[in-house]
Amino acid sequence: MTNLSVVGLGPVGLCSAVAFATQGHRVIGFDIDAKRRGQAAQGEPPFYEKGIETALRKVLRAKRFSVVDTMDAAIEPATIVFLCVGTPSREDGSMDDSGLRSATKSIAEAWRDGKRRTVVVKSTVLPGTTDHVVRPILEAAGRPFRLGVNPEFLREGRALEDALRPDRVVLGADGPETARILKSLYRFAKCPILATDLKTAEAVKYATNSFLATKVAFADELANLCDALDVSYDEVHKGLGLDPRINPRFLVPGVGFGGSCFPKDVRALVSAGRRRGAEPRLLEAVLAQNEVQYQRAIAFLEEELGDLNGKRIAILGLAFKGDTDDIRETRALPIARSLLAKGALVVGYDPLAGPAFSQVVPEVKVVDSVKEALAGADGTILQGDWPAFSRLTAKDFVTTMATPVVVDGRRILDPKKMRGVRFHRIG
Ligand code: UDX
Repeated sequence: MTNLSVVGLGPVGLCSAVAFATQGHRVIGFDIDAKRRGQAAQGEPPFYEKGIETALRKVLRAKRFSVVDTMDAAIEPATIVFLCVGTPSREDGSMDDSGLRSATKSIAEAWRDGKRRTVVVKSTVLPGTTDHVVRPILEAAGRPFRLGVNPEFLREGRALEDALRPDRVVLGADGPETARILKSLYRFAKCPILATDLKTAEAVKYATNSFLATKVAFADELANLCDALDVSYDEVHKGLGLDPRINPRFLVPGVGFGGSCFPKDVRALVSAGRRRGAEPRLLEAVLAQNEVQYQRAIAFLEEELGDLNGKRIAILGLAFKGDTDDIRETRALPIARSLLAKGALVVGYDPLAGPAFSQVVPEVKVVDSVKEALAGADGTILQGDWPAFSRLTAKDFVTTMATPVVVDGRRILDPKKMRGVRFHRIG
């Protein structure tokens, strides 16, 4: 049982804290945002993650996890300190490490004793950041420290699951003692554990997300080509996936990838590579392709309805994917803006993300049910892979819409069950 603290209680920090506490460690949580501290302390996660509320309340009750109001109180009892602060994109796509810097400075200031502690960067940071940003701040404080890197591979909507049952753990260490400490922390993980150096661990995270984003963009492009060549994507995918080097997973074509990770991480890697004289042409093409993929859905609507001016179009799914309330980089945004620019009346529905979405695009009429969104609509675009949407039947569309034009942007409906629907999907 180890005393560890988690600095930053967003989805990554809180899910990681709860997972470590569930495994029997004593975990202390801190966040500079007092509201977020209060919510975590009350067992009311400020974001939607399946199972997090129950698991959080359980470890709070068992006194395995507690939230403190000062960094001092977070650092003093801890032997390991996890940095889980955000590293968002700047305007030019580069990684903004200001949050990481200020959190590290606060940790150094709160480190009042001579105890040696291990500082572990879980935030997604470019290769070399832990060494060149975190290390100098801790060195300036003159405290005995070890440094580790432990990238997160949490998928939104399944973050707690991924934290409790990772399918691989990557540990960067500044020496054998740190590697030993981190490996013992992950004794619970029944999966491969890669122990490597700091920079490699940071790089593995970007390599993974960049490849996954490329895989999605490839699926989108292949689907576009299948449509142009009049072949079935599903059939081609069956053959493609048989190759063990490719495997069938993560090749679902649609309106493009969104979320707070893929776009940010690919942009940061491209920007960092470019700054050092590399030419990341393929990843730049992935970003460029992803930017316009949503237009396929709009084109299907225009094919069926002609000029969209004055037409009523419903968007089902406003968050960047199902099972989350996160609208960061959601493809629903460019879809809505493009429809509005064409003079369409846009109605949107999402089980969780409606209010957040209408803050950003007030011109979209956000309603409270699928039925309300479909009522009288001339066309619908499915943008979120919510389970509720995959259960929609042809009857749901035909009996409620003015014209049953449906574009499935997330490949969640079965075309064979769409009799009477003017149905399209990508690929
Ligand atoms: C991703 C990585 O999966 C996770 O390991 C990392 O830690 C964070 O980034 P997340 O962004 O939560 O997780 O979502 P994910 O489920 O990976 O989907 C990312 C985007 O790709 C979504 O917009 C999704 O709709 C899209 N996608 C995913 C596809 O279009 N097709 C697919 O086959 C898979």
